[in-house]
This record gives sequence, structure tokens and C-alpha cells, in this order.
Amino acid sequence: MRRILLLTLVTTALSGLAASANELRDIALETFKPLPSTVPAVPGNPATPEKVDLGKALFFDPRLSASGVFSCYSCHNLTTGGDDNMETSVGHGWQKGPRNSPTVLNAVLNEAQFWDGRADDLAAQAKGPVQASVEMANTPENAVATLKSMPQYVEWFAAAFPGEEEALSFDNMAKAIEVFEATLITPAPFDAWLNGDDSALNEEQLAGLQLFMDKGCSSCHSGVNVGGHGYYPFGLIEKPGAEVLPPDDKGRFAVTETVDDEYVFRAAPLRNIALTAPYFHSGKVWDLSVAVDIMAESQLGEELKPEETAQIVAFLGSLTGTVPSVTLPVLPAETSTTPHPTT
Ligand code: HEM
Ligand code: HEM
Repeated sequence: MRRILLLTLVTTALSGLAASANELRDIALETFKPLPSTVPAVPGNPATPEKVDLGKALFFDPRLSASGVFSCYSCHNLTTGGDDNMETSVGHGWQKGPRNSPTVLNAVLNEAQFWDGRADDLAAQAKGPVQASVEMANTPENAVATLKSMPQYVEWFAAAFPGEEEALSFDNMAKAIEVFEATLITPAPFDAWLNGDDSALNEEQLAGLQLFMDKGCSSCHSGVNVGGHGYYPFGLIEKPGAEVLPPDDKGRFAVTETVDDEYVFRAAPLRNIALTAPYFHSGKVWDLSVAVDIMAESQLGEELKPEETAQIVAFLGSLTGTVPSVTLPVLPAETSTTPHPTT
């Protein structure tokens, strides 16, 4: 009899737990979305194996930069979280750029690209770094001339953009890079949990998720990329000091020239955040716990208890996903007509 009673008690307690786990999942699914199980389609830019392979070659090719030194991969290293783990990136002529490099992993799912959202999609985005003076410092003409000088690239562009008269163009370079980047999605334990696997998150991570929603983090960091859409003042409640928010980078103000947009930035996407220190557009914060505490104070006016910070950090760890394996491409060799690198 006592055994039956005990069993009933345990079963009731377990079903209570399951009910609350399910409740938490239902609430979470109103705010977040699991990653798609297949590579997302890019509107107006259908993927083919030829285009993805070409995009991969271009992503790794340092000859897209004027100096022949910097490729996309230099600042978006796929083996270290899709960024460069530096405060701000170093580019052409070893210049230190103004901002921290965000990850390219899952970037296809951001509604707008860059810390200030100034590019709408990855194809628009990819043309930026090739020309940016502190990144690759090239011109579209020189990039195209470089690619055209290598017959293998001419063939690859023709296969990736069949039937196009001008298959090898700057626009198509960006489109190919975009479809390659779209393959860089990283399913994480949080996705498994959202999809119904109770064991994918531990107690601490579940408590962190609950806090992340209850405290209001998820009012800005939501959706499939846990951020990556929506713009907010960095310092909505309390402006962080200049050591975190340098006064000269006014964020979206440079895009819209509206006073209301001073120090407004895109709510950062938080997938793989545990891999992408240092944090914020300034790259001034190296510790994720410190970044979480700064967010709580600056965006919500909250001081978190140390155990709350630890729980939120544990939840953020559940956003670290599996990076797809990428085989290094073998790039076409230069020819006598390939423009020489410049410094
Ligand atoms: C931003 C891709 C080259 C440094 C981005 C973003 C993407 C990207 C997708 C936006 C991510 C987001 O907003 O979440 C590429 C591609 C490149 C390339 C395809 C090659 C064509 C480089 C290089 C550097 C660099 C060579 C460093 C010298 C940065 C920085 C940002 C950024 C600092 C943030 C800029 C800002 O928000 O103003 N890149 N990148 N990228 N990338 Fe790259
Ligand atoms: C950036 C977490 C609340 C808007 C970040 C970053 C983290 C984070 C870790 C750094 C991302 C990176 O470096 O890649 C959190 C947590 C929150 C919270 C744990 C709750 C305690 C909010 C809220 C808002 C917001 C409520 C909007 C009102 C932003 C913005 C950025 C950001 C705009 C980019 C800041 C920059 O320009 O560097 N968040 N966040 N966050 N978050 Fe939050």
C-alpha cells in the first residue's frame, strides 16, 4: 500500500514537473523559434551546389582584398565562432577598425546586418567589406579584374549563374557569398529543447531561460536568432560609461541622421554568444557575465544577483550550436594577368 502511495506521489510530482516544463516551452515558443532544420532559402537568390561552392571559395579568398592579405575568413573565422575574437577588427594596412566583428554564423537569419542594421541582407552586406578602407580596401573593378584573370573562377561563375551574359560580376560575387553564408546555421541544445527534448537543457539553464524572459531580456532578444532585429538605445535606462560605450560611435544615427537614433543599435543576435567574446560593438567587455550585468543595468535598470547572472549565462550557453563542417576550398592559381597586391 505504502509503495503504491509513494509511486503515486512520485508520478504526480513528475507530471507536475513535466507540466511546468511544457508550460515554460509554450511560453518560450511565443517568443523564440527553433532554427529551421534545413538551410534557409535566400529570397531572389536560389542556392545551387555550384553557387554555394563558389561562395565558399570567395569567402576564403584573400585576393578579394587590395593587399591580398584579408579574406572574409580573416575576421569571421569559422573555427572560433565566426568572428575574430578581437576588440575591434584589424584590416587593410593593419588598421584597427571602429567596431567588433559580429559572427557570420546564422547571420542569414538576422533581419538586418551590422551593429547598426545598415545593410538589409547578406548580399548587400558582402559588398561593404570588400570596399571598406579599414577592411579589404578594394574596388569592385579590381576585385572583378582579379577574379576574371583566373580561368577557373570564370568557369565557376558561369556554372553558378547559368545563362547570364555577365556571370562574373561584383553583384554575383556577393550573391554567391550570401548563399554560402546561409549554410552556416548552428542547431543548438536550445533548439532541441524548443523542439520537445526535455533533457536538452539542465535545471540551471531552464532557470536562466525563465529569468531571461521574466526580467525582460527577451523583449529585445527574441525570435529565431534571439536578437538580430529591432533597434534600441544602448543605455535605454542608464547609459553605460565611455569605457563600454565610446561617445564617438553613435550607431544608427549615422544611418538615419535622426537625433532619436543616437546610440541606437540593433539588439544583438545571441546565438553562439559564449564563443564570441569580446562583447558589444566596442568589444570592450571580455566576460559574458559582465556583459549580462551591464545589459541588465543599462537596458532594464536591474541589478542581478550573482546566481541570477550565472543562470542567465548558463542559458546563453545553450545557444552554442554545432558548426557545419566546412572543407577548405582549393583556390584557383593566379595568372600573369592577375592584378598585383597593393599595400
Ligand atoms: C560585419 C560578412 C569581411 C569585419 C559583417 C556581417 C557579415 C559579414 C554577414 C554582419 C553580421 C551581423 O550584423 O550580425 C563578411 C563577408 C566578408 C567580410 C562576407 C568578405 C567579403 C570582413 C573583414 C573584416 C570584417 C575582412 C575585418 C577586417 C567586420 C566588422 C563587422 C562585420 C567589424 C561589423 C561592422 C559594423 O557593424 O559596422 N561581416 N565580412 N569583415 N565584419 Fe565582415
Ligand atoms: C547586446 C544580453 C537585455 C538590447 C547584448 C549582448 C548581450 C546581451 C550578451 C552583447 C552581444 C554581443 O556582443 O554580440 C542581454 C541580456 C539581457 C538583455 C542577458 C537581459 C538581462 C536587453 C534589452 C534590450 C537589449 C531589454 C533592449 C531594450 C541590446 C542591444 C545590444 C545588446 C541594442 C547591442 C549593444 C551594442 O551596441 O553593443 N545583449 N541583453 N538587451 N542588447 Fe541585450
